[in-house]
This record gives sequence, structure tokens and C-alpha cells, in this order.
Amino acid sequence: MKISFIGSGYVGLVSGAVLSEIGHEVTCIDNDASKVAKLNMGKIPIYEPGLEEIVHNNLQNKRLNFQVDLQTSIKGREAIFIAVSTPSASDGSADLSYVYAAIDQLKQELLPDQIIVIKSTVPPGTGKNIQEYLQKMGLNNEVVSNPEFLREGAAIADFMNPDRIVIGASASHAAEIMKNIYKPLIDKGVKCVFTDNTTAELIKYASNSFLAVKIAFINEMANICEDINANIEDLSYGIGLDTRIGNKHLKAGPGFGGSCFPKDILAIAYMAKSLNEPSIIMEATIASNEKRKHLMVEKIVRALDGQNCNIANKTICALGLTFKADTDDVRSSPAIEILKLLLERKARIKAYDPAGSANAKLILPEIEYAATILDAAKDANCILILTEWKEFSDFDYGDVASLVKDKLIIDLRNILDKNKIIKQGYRYINIGIN
Ligand code: UGA
Repeated sequence: MKISFIGSGYVGLVSGAVLSEIGHEVTCIDNDASKVAKLNMGKIPIYEPGLEEIVHNNLQNKRLNFQVDLQTSIKGREAIFIAVSTPSASDGSADLSYVYAAIDQLKQELLPDQIIVIKSTVPPGTGKNIQEYLQKMGLNNEVVSNPEFLREGAAIADFMNPDRIVIGASASHAAEIMKNIYKPLIDKGVKCVFTDNTTAELIKYASNSFLAVKIAFINEMANICEDINANIEDLSYGIGLDTRIGNKHLKAGPGFGGSCFPKDILAIAYMAKSLNEPSIIMEATIASNEKRKHLMVEKIVRALDGQNCNIANKTICALGLTFKADTDDVRSSPAIEILKLLLERKARIKAYDPAGSANAKLILPEIEYAATILDAAKDANCILILTEWKEFSDFDYGDVASLVKDKLIIDLRNILDKNKIIKQGYRYINIGIN
């Protein structure tokens, strides 16, 4: 089938590339001409394992291309996906200006049978509102809500083998086109949820919010474990074996971050409030996650300076800047937020990240950036693990034992082997385990 994507950011690029991989002809449109030129040469602007290969293959076999011009790029396309960003506005609501700008550009060019598919995460009711907006201009194109559930760092596998595909549409013509687009996945047995637009949009928000609640919950359990000498890893395993709870997204850490959970949970809390149904659970989760960063800072400060709580001029080797491993994304990264708080306390920070330093430099220019773990560890009063990169769990900390000033490792992701680290002479502090 012939498909266009408006927006070649994270979701547009990955979704467009994978839909070309499963056999469709895809054009991804973006108004950034230099990005489009680079993409057409196979240069990928984001770090996502496996993406470059798929883009290369499909550029070569001409099933995928990138364009700036919208008018020519939507001609003859059966479905036009909107995959632009929906950032948080200052009041926490979702800013839909990019979505409507895309619709406004499209409306001049649409032919009657073309469907518009909203891939961006939008508040429930948006698809219906867009449908009405088009109708007022005499356009009867059907609007489908088809939220995306892929995770950064695992996006290709998530798109190819999703737990489910959600399709919100009010007309059968649109649902049929969507079934054909996803046929290669549906034929493999992937479950499809057909519903109305608003429910489809709410499924996306509810899924992200529920996962965020799970993480905030397990992080609070980790605090309790520390207080009563219990073990959070065993606790997660123990409750996760209950299939009603499930074992995913139950890893305690420095709090959830990224471009999705913090934004989506704010948007759903905002929506609930504006419906006069304030969500106690969402608001508590936002507060719990916010408090988490401060708790982490207190933990670090205590580990570094006991009761005195003075970390001025202490050197911290910070390992990890991204919001999780296998991405270069530092948006709402707990690592960055924790480092900002440590800077306020006048610590000296030397950071290393396998992929996120360039992005981190843009928002945190005040710290020192090292090219290797070894460089970052030199003269450090502690090694602080903030992101669960495999490079950090594979690293032999014995190799830097003679370089650091104090042998202290604070592991906020519980990725190291405690016994091994202690044998190497380090004091080891982690999350939810004493
Ligand atoms: C999340 C959802 O998992 C995807 O299903 C969804 O499509 C995506 O948002 C989106 O809305 O676009 P993502 O933000 O890539 O995906 O990352 P996650 O793997 O869900 O992690 C989010 C945050 O939670 C990270 O900071 C991560 O470190 C943290 N986390 C995750 C934990 O602290 N513990 C866990 O057990 C899992």
C-alpha cells in the first residue's frame, strides 16, 4: 500500500521505516530540509538499534524515501499518518499546535478516499475533533486514531512484534485500510483492538499512565525495603510472578523519565481535572516521581559526606545521561535532573554516556564530559550509575580502583554484582537493598 508520514521524528521515522520493511511504499515528510537530505543518504539522526539497517535496505529497494514537499508526497497515498510531536504546554495539557498545523497543510491537498491516521499521542477526543474540523471545511476524509506503543531502544522489535495494534475508527472503509496496512503483523497473530477514536486515544494514555504508576509504586517499595532491610529485586520478582501483576516495568531506579511518561501522565491528570474528575492516582504518581529525584540526591549526598551533607568540591563520576539505556535521548532524563541538583550543591561532575553526551551538552553545558569510563573516573570521590547501559554492567571496576580518590559506587539502577564490587574494595550503595 502507499503511505505517507507527516513528521520524521522518532515515531514517524521508526514507524515509516518498519512499514516499508513489511512491504509498503512509504514517504516520510519533514520540514527540516537538511534532515531529509541526510535521511535520503541513509544517515539516521537518532540512536536506535537496528533502525539504520532497515532505512538503508528500504531506501535501496525504493520502498522508503524522505521528502520536504507535502503536496507531491501525499499524492496517490491511501493513508496519511500524522506523527508530529505533542509536547506539554505550560499547564500540563498536550500542545496540539503541530498536529493542527499538519492538518491545515493537508486539507488543501486531500482527495476524498484518503484517510488520516493520527499516530501522535493526543488527548482523547482529538481524532473526533479533527474529523469535525475537516467536516466544517466540507472534507469528509475519515480520521483514524492509531496510537503507537514502541519503546525507545527496542522500537524495531516493538513495532514488528507488538502486544497489540489499536485502531480507533468510526467507519469501516478506514478500518479496512488499516487492516490491510497491518496485515503482515495480523497474519502473524498480533491482536488488533478495533474501537472508536476516543477509546483508542485513551488506551494509549491509560497504558503509559499505568506503567508510570507501576514504576512509582516499585520505587516506593524500594524505599520501604531500605528501611526494613528487605530486598527490592526479590520483591519485584516475587510480585511479578503473579500474572495479574506481571513482571514488566517493575524495576526500581531513579524515577521514570523520557519524552512519554512524564508528559502523558501530566496530560491525563490535566484532562481529568478539567473534566472535574481529578485523578488522585495520577497526581500522586507525578508527585512521587518528582520526589524521587530529591531522594536520590539525598542518598548520594549521605553516601559522600555522611551527616555533614556537604558535597561542595566532591568529584562525581556520573555514568549515564540518557533517560534509559540504548537511546541518545535525554529528554526528562532522571540522570540530568539529578545532576542539576548535585550541581546546585556545588559538586564537580565528570560524566560519560555511550550515546547521550552530545544531547546532554545542549541542556547541561556546566559539567565536564569524558570520552571513556576511565577518564570520568579519574580522581572521583564516587562513581554514580544513573543509566543501565550494558557497557556499565560489563565494565570491570577493578580497572579504575587505583584511579579514583574514594572507592565508592552508588548504583541507582542495580546493575552491578554487589559481591564482586565489594571484593574489589569498594563501598557499594544501591536501590532497595542494604
Ligand atoms: C514508553 C512506553 O513503554 C511505550 O510503550 C510507549 O510507546 C512510549 O513510552 C511512548 O509513549 O512513545 P519509552 O519512553 O521509550 O516507552 O521508555 P520505557 O522503557 O517505558 O521507560 C520509561 C522510563 O521508565 C525510563 O526512564 C525507564 O528507565 C523507566 N523505567 C522503566 C523504570 O524505572 N523501571 C522499569 O521497570 C521500566
